[in-house]
Amino acid sequence: MMSKVHLKKWESGSSGVKIIFLHGFPLDHTIWQPVLPFLQGSAHCILPDLRGHGESPVSEGVSTMLEMADDVAGLMDDLGMERAVLVGHSMGGYISFAFAKAFPERLQGLALVATHPLADDEHKRLNRLQTADTIEQTGVETLAASMPASLTSDPKIRAQLQNIIRKISPAGAAAALRGMAEREESLSLLDKIQVPAVVIAGERDSIVPLSLAAEMASRLPKGKLVIIPNGGHMPMMEAPDQTAAALLELVERVRLTTTQL
Ligand code: MLT
Repeated sequence: MMSKVHLKKWESGSSGVKIIFLHGFPLDHTIWQPVLPFLQGSAHCILPDLRGHGESPVSEGVSTMLEMADDVAGLMDDLGMERAVLVGHSMGGYISFAFAKAFPERLQGLALVATHPLADDEHKRLNRLQTADTIEQTGVETLAASMPASLTSDPKIRAQLQNIIRKISPAGAAAALRGMAEREESLSLLDKIQVPAVVIAGERDSIVPLSLAAEMASRLPKGKLVIIPNGGHMPMMEAPDQTAAALLELVERVRLTTTQL
């Protein structure tokens, strides 16, 4: 049975297309702050902390991508929102895929930021499960010390990310790792996602190869690819203006689709 969690959320702007921003692992909603000024007046932005992350409640054990997607649907219910655009960063992208599978009618548009549709291979899966156990036993400091270097080459952003990671609860991080380890591939879902979509990819992302981002964009029926020159895994912090421009273009396409209905 799926457990219910009420997500803590922040909002910016109150008019225009509704966008829900889903951060990656093991981060929180603050990664999106740099893009918000560019979206003022064009979008109503909702920024949750995902379960087990930031200020949202922690559920122990395993947080599956479907449970996390269900939390997002619950947040939309609480806000009286039938449909929304999802912007999913990395693990937030995996959650967006689970959402698109479970609630296709509630998805109005999709931005996939530094993410990909594959499942873990066996090596990665076992590695995640082991890391989850270690974190529960020894805390998140090893993650905070090692992970930022794989996310960006910008020293200032690395320091910001380290501070965010230090705040996550070991149980929340471990549950998300176990949830990611058991997720299914979503490659076969892509051609069923009929809403306007954009793939935003950092040219130098060390986690998601550009070729995979390009394949994902070409498989999405209404997909576009935006490459952030010199960007890593954190385009919303590394190049907020270019990331926001890609989102505004998506918002425009969503608006046109809605007007035509
Ligand atoms: C993330 O940024 O959310 C993670 O790198 C995703 C992953 O570990 O697959």
